[in-house]
Amino acid sequence: MCGIVGYVGQQSALEVVVEGLRRMEYRGYDSAGVAIVNAEGLATDKRAGKLANLEKSLAEVPLPPATAGIGHTRWATHGAPNDVNAHPHVSEHGDVAVVHNGIIENFAELRDELERTGTELVSETDTEVTAHLLSRAYADLPDRPDRLAAAMRVVCRRLEGAFTLVAVHRDHDGTVVGARRSSPLVAGIGTGEYFLASDVAAFIAHTRDALELGEDQVVEIDRERGINITDFDGHPAEGNEYHVDWDAGAAEKGGYAWFMLKEIAEQPAAVADTLRGRLSAGGDIVLDEVRLSEEDLRDVDKIFVIACGTAYHAGLVAKYAIEHWTRIPCEVELASEFRYRDPVLDRSTLVIAISQSGETMDTLKALRHAKEQRARILSICNTNGSTMPRESDAVLYTRAGPEVAVASTKCFLAQITACYLVALYLARVRGVKYGDEVAAIVAQLRGMPALIEQTLATMEPVRELGRDLATAPTVLFLGRHVGYPIALEGALKLKELAYIHAEGFAGGELKHGPIALIDHGTPVVVIVPSPRGRNIMHGKVVNNIQEVRARGGRMIVIAEEGDDAVNAFADLVIRVPVAPTLLAPLLTSVPLQVLACEIADARGNDVDQPRNLAKSVTVE
Ligand code: M6R
Repeated sequence: MCGIVGYVGQQSALEVVVEGLRRMEYRGYDSAGVAIVNAEGLATDKRAGKLANLEKSLAEVPLPPATAGIGHTRWATHGAPNDVNAHPHVSEHGDVAVVHNGIIENFAELRDELERTGTELVSETDTEVTAHLLSRAYADLPDRPDRLAAAMRVVCRRLEGAFTLVAVHRDHDGTVVGARRSSPLVAGIGTGEYFLASDVAAFIAHTRDALELGEDQVVEIDRERGINITDFDGHPAEGNEYHVDWDAGAAEKGGYAWFMLKEIAEQPAAVADTLRGRLSAGGDIVLDEVRLSEEDLRDVDKIFVIACGTAYHAGLVAKYAIEHWTRIPCEVELASEFRYRDPVLDRSTLVIAISQSGETMDTLKALRHAKEQRARILSICNTNGSTMPRESDAVLYTRAGPEVAVASTKCFLAQITACYLVALYLARVRGVKYGDEVAAIVAQLRGMPALIEQTLATMEPVRELGRDLATAPTVLFLGRHVGYPIALEGALKLKELAYIHAEGFAGGELKHGPIALIDHGTPVVVIVPSPRGRNIMHGKVVNNIQEVRARGGRMIVIAEEGDDAVNAFADLVIRVPVAPTLLAPLLTSVPLQVLACEIADARGNDVDQPRNLAKSVTVE
């Protein structure tokens, strides 16, 4: 949600900043803007729409050369996505430019105050108040080298809500200042150059040495004085230094038409890497950070999984394995609803927060609520050093690498894999499963990357189907047991990418209402469970297929190789390799991803940046 970048060094700030914005455009693409500062002062440009609009404008009217600057790519919250509301916002005297991610909750009050005291605001955004406040705070302070950082601290103390702010001042052509509260900000440390960004992807081509800013910190990057961090009161503070273990190539398309296609293809590696090194010789699962004892885990009597969107669907899949393997009751909740229904939590509750970004505000707020109720928190996350892992008692990182496409694919598979590892760990610690039983399931999991690879190699009929369904007004998805969350995920993918009405149902619910939607030719995708698993379920799903078909539905069936019982009732059978029942979602989700991608592409949509969406949703 909104991408921010700041740079100070020896290179062209404009080039570095625009390149950073390009790598962060997945965070929002309603508008983009830049500000540079040099000895002559401050210059800005900002345009509604994608970054390409800004680039075009900069090509027509170039900004003066500078070696310090900031940039922003926006996902609109306050105010329409137009040129005026685009960031940076500049103070009334033109001395300060600010970019912002998050929501300033008390902006109405601050806006009133500014207007009452003579400042005219030009945009509808909450951000603009910070530019005027920063300018005023700066003017009130005596001259000193860190004057802009000191002014930022004054402003931050007045702000409520979640925010990352990055600013430049026309009198400081070697300084960029940033601040964060409940919104991501990382610094990049290069040689004689420094970066600030919402995501390391923005500067990974220049340096892999990063520093994660803590909560309520202000950071100053200065060409001469280096990097200085304080809290909002000015006390010296420290960030969390780390080395990024992937390079710029990992965040590039690598010959694929879309990032999503590349990320679908990377799924075998995402699952394999998430498993790598996680099983010790003694059969123990190795978590990345554990501040929980085995005794704590033995005391767990209830598990809540909290997550949003695709991560929520990963949790729904995991529930079947968690309960089956650990015998601990497990509820999966939409993070955005969790804290508002006053869940019953205590010291023996384990809350598992699943998030690709580690910054999703709904999940973060749910996590904090659970923490206040003294529950133990374990996060499953793909972004090292992000807020959720930092606030959790234990962390298991999914090692899917950077996921750039807004639609989550490889992280979904990695999240399911990570949940399974946690479930196995709990089962072992609690004595519900022996070490050799755990090892046997881990061995099955280790076999999955090869099966995902096989599935990927047989997707041509799915692509063909996608082109054929490009004009379908609605597509329905049916599943049972672990196939049910996959049906939900298939529908979500189609909605977000193709903008087609799609719904996922539990097969058993069909007769309780959804069957009324079936008309002649309505495409219905059914995820059929293995006949070798709970075969009673297989028979029931085959019945569902017949019920839909009898009403004219067009049956697209996803079934494992050798399951011929479905042939007679299907218009198209998509085969996936044979896999253990609980692991099958790692395969059955693949054709649904490919289908959504292909339909979206055939409809001429931007697959990587679907309308109205952003990759990480850092506002509630
Ligand atoms: O970063 P997170 O995993 O917490 O994000 C959660 C959802 O916003 C995310 O999965 C979203 O639903 C994806 N766009 C789905 O493809």
